[in-house]
Amino acid sequence: MSSPASGNPRPFAPRYPQLGTGPVPVTSAVDPAYFELERERIFRGMWINLILRDSELPEPGDYVVRHLEAQDATVLVVRGDDGRLRAFHNVCTHRGNQLAPQGAGHCAGFQCGFHGWTFDTRGRLVFVSDEQRFHALDKAALGLPPVHLDTWRGFVFVNLARRPAQSLEQAMSEFNADLKPYPFERMVLAGRYRYTVNANWKVTMNAFQESYHGAFVHKLSVGQCISPQDPYLAVQRIKLQENGNQSISVHLAPHAPSPAEKLAFDFGATFTQGGDATTAFPGTAQHEVRDWGFDLNIIFPYSRINVGAGWYYVDAFWPVAHDRTVYELAYYFPMPQRASEMISQEYSKIVLRDLSREDLATNEATHRSLRSGAIGQMVLSDQEIAVRHLYHTVAARCGRELAG
Ligand code: FES
Ligand SMILES: [Fe+2]
Repeated sequence: MSSPASGNPRPFAPRYPQLGTGPVPVTSAVDPAYFELERERIFRGMWINLILRDSELPEPGDYVVRHLEAQDATVLVVRGDDGRLRAFHNVCTHRGNQLAPQGAGHCAGFQCGFHGWTFDTRGRLVFVSDEQRFHALDKAALGLPPVHLDTWRGFVFVNLARRPAQSLEQAMSEFNADLKPYPFERMVLAGRYRYTVNANWKVTMNAFQESYHGAFVHKLSVGQCISPQDPYLAVQRIKLQENGNQSISVHLAPHAPSPAEKLAFDFGATFTQGGDATTAFPGTAQHEVRDWGFDLNIIFPYSRINVGAGWYYVDAFWPVAHDRTVYELAYYFPMPQRASEMISQEYSKIVLRDLSREDLATNEATHRSLRSGAIGQMVLSDQEIAVRHLYHTVAARCGRELAG
C-alpha cells in the first residue's frame, strides 16, 4: 500500500482524478440558499441513520420520536404489537397536532393531546372522540402517515421520500461487503452524547474526516499515540465511494501506556489500544493498515459507523440550519462481565468524548471565519481528500459546479 511512509506523499489524488487537486470554494458551507438546496436535493430523499439499534426497542409498544430538522419532519418509530418495527410521521391525522413529544418510551398506543384521537402501535386510528358528529369518517384511511423504515445490520434507517430512489441495501453500497461482517450484535449501547454547534454540518464533519489535525488538536489527549516518525498521522487507507460514502482507517502508534491507560489496558478492550493482532475483527481494515486503530465509515451525507477492536461508535452531524449542527454520538461495547471491564469501558468513553470535544472546538470559529468572506476557498492536502470528496459529492447532488 502506498503511503507517505513508503515514499509517496500524495498517494490518493491519482486514485480519484475526478476530484481534482485545486482549492475548494467555501460557498456551500456559508450560503443559506445552498442549505435549502441541500434540503431539497439531498436530505429529503436519503436514508437517514437514526443512531438507533433495533435492539434498543425490544418490546411491542417501545418507541422513539426524533425531530429531523434537515428534513423538516418529526418521525415516530414504534414496535407494533405484531413485533414489527414501523415509522410514521408524528402527526395526528385529525388536524395535524404533534402526537408524541421528542424522546423515547413505552405505550399501548398514542393519544393526541388536542382532541383525543387515539392510534395503536401499528399506526391505526382506533378511537375518535365524539365520532358521530363527523361526516362519513373513514377511520381505516386515517392511520398515521407511514414513513419508509429499514434496518442494516440492526441499525434503523428511515426515508421520507414517497418512493425512495434506492433501497437501503443499495445506499450502503460497498459497505455491504466491507463493513457488514463486523460483530455489531456482540455489543450494547454504553452511552450517548449530543452537542449543538454553531457551524455548518460540512464544516463540523470536516474536522472528523482527516487525521492531519491530530498532532495539534489532540496533542494533549492522545499525543502518546503519535510517533515522531509519523508526526502528522498520515492515513494509509482511504476508500471513497461513488455515492459519497467513505472509509478512512486511523492508526495509533504503539506507545508506553499512561497510568490511566495501564489500568484500562489491563481490564479490557480500550479505545487507544488499537487492534490486537491475535484477534481478528471482520468488517474492518485491521489487516491492511500498520498499527491499525479503527475505521471511520461515513454514510453519505452525515452519519458514520466507526469500528474498532471490540468497540464501535455511531455518530451523526445533524444539519439544523446553514449555520447550526447537532453532533450526536453513541458508543457500543460488549456487555461488561466484571467491574474491571466497566472501568476499562468508562476510560474509553471518556477518551472518545474528549477527542470529539476537541474536534468540535474548532468548528464555530472556523465557520465564523468562512462566513466573514476573508477566504473564499480552502486549500486541501492529499491527506484531506475525504473533505474534498464531501464537497464534490454535495455539489454534484445539488447540480452545482465545484471549481478546483
Ligand atoms: S389534532 Fe389530534 S385529535 Fe385533533
Ligand atoms: Fe480529531
